[in-house]
Amino acid sequence: MRKPFIAANWKMHKSVAESVAFVNAIKNKLPDPDKIEVGIAPQAFSLYSMKQAAGDSGLKIIAQNAAAEYSGPYTGEISLRGLKDLGASYAMLGHIERRRLFGENNEAVNKKVKAALQMDITPIICTDETMVQKEVNDEIHYVFQQLMSVLHGVSLDQIKRVVISYEPSWAVGVGQHANAALAEEGCRMIRRTIADNYTYEIADKIRILYGGSVNPDNIKEIMAKPDIDGVLIGRASLDVDNFLKMVNYA
Ligand code: G3P
Repeated sequence: MRKPFIAANWKMHKSVAESVAFVNAIKNKLPDPDKIEVGIAPQAFSLYSMKQAAGDSGLKIIAQNAAAEYSGPYTGEISLRGLKDLGASYAMLGHIERRRLFGENNEAVNKKVKAALQMDITPIICTDETMVQKEVNDEIHYVFQQLMSVLHGVSLDQIKRVVISYEPSWAVGVGQHANAALAEEGCRMIRRTIADNYTYEIADKIRILYGGSVNPDNIKEIMAKPDIDGVLIGRASLDVDNFLKMVNYA
């Protein structure tokens, strides 16, 4: 049984004070953490205060990014060691905005994934595929290529600790969402890719999230799909009422 996972990606929104106020507003209204996992990825400078504010509510604190190197001369980077100290449970790696705007490639994401696993921070590996590739009927190949490059060298034992997020580029931040059937199709293909390259048992256990314009109106239909174990929500997660609605639908 895969535990549902509802995660918010706040991107470059909210100050520390706003982030803490949000946690205080939701922490007593969250579902039973044994049944549903809920997490928020704020800007890095809010991680510690949010973790403190979350207390024993079960709310997970997620980093939006991390460096592959543990320490050294890497100005502006965020170390996994520091994230561990702050109590981050997860790190999102390879988000489409990191790839598009900051030039992260598969090799860089692969290094980060392996470093996070070694540091015992669970990677949420984001993977996308584009409309163009879908139109030329190359979708399976693309998902396979990107995901497997990012997982290169990740062992049978380590893959069990990974969460994968399927975020098709046409659905992220555009106000349009891949309909639930397309979202399911992408997640199902990812699960099949894991089964082909690891084992069916592992593919059956691994959690796969969908991200891209999820909101209170579509979350129910998306979460009802058998291969979708959770969602990564951008804009719609910034509002307390919307967030609570979505968490409680799930
Ligand atoms: O990580 C999730 C995200 O990129 C989706 O953003 O605003 O389309 O929900 P949004």
